[in-house]
Amino acid sequence: MDEQHWEKRYRSRARLFSGAPNEVLMTEVRGLPPGQALDVGCGEGADARWLAAQGWQVTAVDLSRTALRQAATAGAGSAGQVAWTHGDPTVHPPPAGAFDLVSLQYFPLRRVPGHRALCGLLHAVAPGGTLLFVSHSPAEVGPQYDGYYQPAEVATLLGNGWRVLTDESRPRSGPPPEGTHHTRDTVLRAVRGHRQRAGGPVIRPARRVLDSDERRTDVGGETDRRAPGVRESGTG
Ligand SMILES: C[S@@+](CC[C@H](N)C(=O)[O-])C[C@H]1O[C@@H](n2cnc3c(N)ncnc32)[C@H](O)[C@@H]1O
Repeated sequence: MDEQHWEKRYRSRARLFSGAPNEVLMTEVRGLPPGQALDVGCGEGADARWLAAQGWQVTAVDLSRTALRQAATAGAGSAGQVAWTHGDPTVHPPPAGAFDLVSLQYFPLRRVPGHRALCGLLHAVAPGGTLLFVSHSPAEVGPQYDGYYQPAEVATLLGNGWRVLTDESRPRSGPPPEGTHHTRDTVLRAVRGHRQRAGGPVIRPARRVLDSDERRTDVGGETDRRAPGVRESGTG
């Protein structure tokens, strides 16, 4: 599922997705104080627009330029609050500790050795910030998704620098996305600790690989990620 794959899908129709924000995003994020959000694989931008309407400053990143163009057009009213950004955050990690919310909604995050791509995204969550990772239920997707992380798996990988608030499968309250049979979502919501504490609420030391306080040496510092308009990032 590379850039070509997604471009082809987005070009095949005037609109690929419903145009409505994802229900789990709305449920989980409503009530959080707005700050900086990273929408990973933003697609046509409905989530980013909703976040902006809630007062968030959003960096919305996607591989597909077609999707981003549509998102920017539909999101003209959110100008100044959403930076539509072309790039691949699994290859070029976002700035470390920069986002109060990192949201992955049905984002195909491939497993790679050392969890490198996942680490990059986790490190983007600011201390005290939230990771929200939502997928279709594994029971309802085919074996072609075997190489991709499920939220429940990520929950097992988080170290004691994280507090897991939600790790569950739940029924979708709305209809399945057009042309699909999906009835359930799996949801991980976790908060990155301000400091790593021994004896934190969720610790799986035997499998702990992704503590929040571990430092990356290959992640750059803050970038100007708030400028509106479609920007280049990563692979370009
Ligand atoms: C299933 S769609 C979900 C779109 C949106 N989050 C939603 O819920 O409507 C996955 C999106 O991730 C994007 N995508 C897939 N792999 C990507 C990658 N490595 N980097 C950036 N975007 C990617 C695709 O272009 C697509 O827009």
